[in-house]
Amino acid sequence: MKLDNVPTKLKAIRCQHVSLEVSDVDESLVFYRDFLGMKLSERHRAGEHKSIPFEMAFLRLNNRHHDLVLTHDPKRNYVKKSLVESPAGIHHFAFECPNRDSFLSHLSRAHTMNLKIVRGPVIHSSFHKEGDGSWGENESFYVLDPDGHRVEIFCDMASITDEGRYVNAYGKLVPDTLAEEV
Ligand SMILES: [Fe+2]
Repeated sequence: MKLDNVPTKLKAIRCQHVSLEVSDVDESLVFYRDFLGMKLSERHRAGEHKSIPFEMAFLRLNNRHHDLVLTHDPKRNYVKKSLVESPAGIHHFAFECPNRDSFLSHLSRAHTMNLKIVRGPVIHSSFHKEGDGSWGENESFYVLDPDGHRVEIFCDMASITDEGRYVNAYGKLVPDTLAEEV
C-alpha cells in the first residue's frame, strides 16, 4: 500500500526508542550502563503486570523516561545473533553523539572495555576526503552488545534541506546530492 500526500499532522515526529529482546537482562544492563552511561528508569519482573509475561528494563540517556527497553521472556530459549546467520530482524540501531569529541570518547571507551568493534570508525561520505563513499554523511563505528545486536555510535550526520539537498554537519552543501523524496 502506498500512501501519497500523507498530511503533515499524521507524520510521526521522530523515531525514538527501540525494544530489544535479550538473553540476560543483567548482562545487558552492564553493557548499556557502562558503555553508554544509560540509567535505569524502571525494571519489572515477568508477569508483574498481568498482560506482560516478560521481564522489562527501561533505560534512559537523558530525561526522557526511556530510550531503550530490554525485554526477556523466561520461557524462551535465546540464541545470540550471529554475524553470519540469524533470523531477519534489526540490522543495527544507533546512538548519536552531540559532537565529534563525544564520538571519540565513546570510541576510546569501546577500546577500554575491549568491545568487539565490527566496523569503523568510518566516515560514511562520498564528499569528505576520508570518506568511504557510502551514504549518510556521518562518522560511525559499530560494536556488538552481549547478544550480538549491532550498536552504532555516530556523529555529524547531514541534514536535508526542503529542496532535498544535503548539508553536512559543518554547514557545507554536499555536491551532487538530492534526496529521493522531498
Ligand atoms: Fe546506521
